[in-house]
Amino acid sequence: MMTFDRMRADLAKAYDLQPSPQATKATADRYAHVARVIPPEVWAQHAPYIVAIDQLKRDRNAVILGHNYMPPHIFHGVSDVVGDSLQLAIKATEVRADVIVQAGVHFMAETSKILNPAKTVLIPDLGAGCSLAESITPAGVEQMRARYPGAQVVSYVNTSAAVKAASDVCCTSANAAQIVAAMPGDTVIMTPDKYLAQNVARQVPGKRVVWWDGACMVHEQFTAEQVREARDCLPGVMVIAHPECPPEVLAEADFSGSTSAMMEIVRSRRPERVMLVTECSMAANMASDLPEVEFAGSCILCPHMQKITLENILWALHTMTHEVTVAPDVAEPARRAVQRMIDLSRQAAR
Ligand code: 13P
Ligand code: SF4
Repeated sequence: MMTFDRMRADLAKAYDLQPSPQATKATADRYAHVARVIPPEVWAQHAPYIVAIDQLKRDRNAVILGHNYMPPHIFHGVSDVVGDSLQLAIKATEVRADVIVQAGVHFMAETSKILNPAKTVLIPDLGAGCSLAESITPAGVEQMRARYPGAQVVSYVNTSAAVKAASDVCCTSANAAQIVAAMPGDTVIMTPDKYLAQNVARQVPGKRVVWWDGACMVHEQFTAEQVREARDCLPGVMVIAHPECPPEVLAEADFSGSTSAMMEIVRSRRPERVMLVTECSMAANMASDLPEVEFAGSCILCPHMQKITLENILWALHTMTHEVTVAPDVAEPARRAVQRMIDLSRQAAR
């Protein structure tokens, strides 16, 4: 197995990765978007990696899809497309590149591969998983079907390709309520996020929503008490929570939505103070462009998202690893479930 030191030594031989005024100048436009959160001396260390990645993207005809939870030097530094899970899934079908580097977690890379079978999809670290995706297997889906015969299975996009293949349709945090409402029958099974399911159940009172017992290791840590304390300490604070949080947290929030919907509302409303109840890279990604907004609250990082670094993105493009593949007998039914989700959410948007 490639060690970290070997990777570093090989990269140092192939690229000029020492800080230089040229690299800093070449990336100055991107630094403007992170100046409030990254000191110039730290950016100077990132800049040579960004320059090398830019060059390799051109050489390989590659694009980088960056999830909203990427740290600012990746989100603003090298991502060609940024967004929430749904936006990245849709954009993945529109990019003309031969190679997609997923700056996100493994299920996102699998989704990109499912929708782009002819493209090479790379993930910079195979260990970038997700507590939700790991909480369920296809056998779990079958268990739920046996318990609720005839009910449709709506699986969150935060699942493996095999679980998607075993499901009737996928959903994301941006469209979960629409998808559940569009399902035939009285009972709908949602996997694997119990909190997303409970939050959707409130929005779709006409359906009986039943759920798998999974949770996001980041969002399950937030409590209603924390939000109430924040309101006491930070008068006027606007509280925006991701729907993977427990329902009692959402009950205390002013708004809930996907990661992109959360960013959008901050950009459009420009509150004086805001608390984003989610992974904390999101606040860092907006802070420099919105100097008038004070981002408050505790910081919880997703350890899986944090596994993606400039160094392993450069390595992924240099060596064309780690390629994400999905067996055709899994990819086909998984694609149907993802495509049904995209079609239903496009219909609902009309
Ligand atoms: P979004 O679909 O809202 O981007 O969320 C993905 C995710 O992993 C949240 O934890
Ligand atoms: Fe998974 Fe939670 Fe990390 Fe999102 S934040 S990737 S749901 S563990």
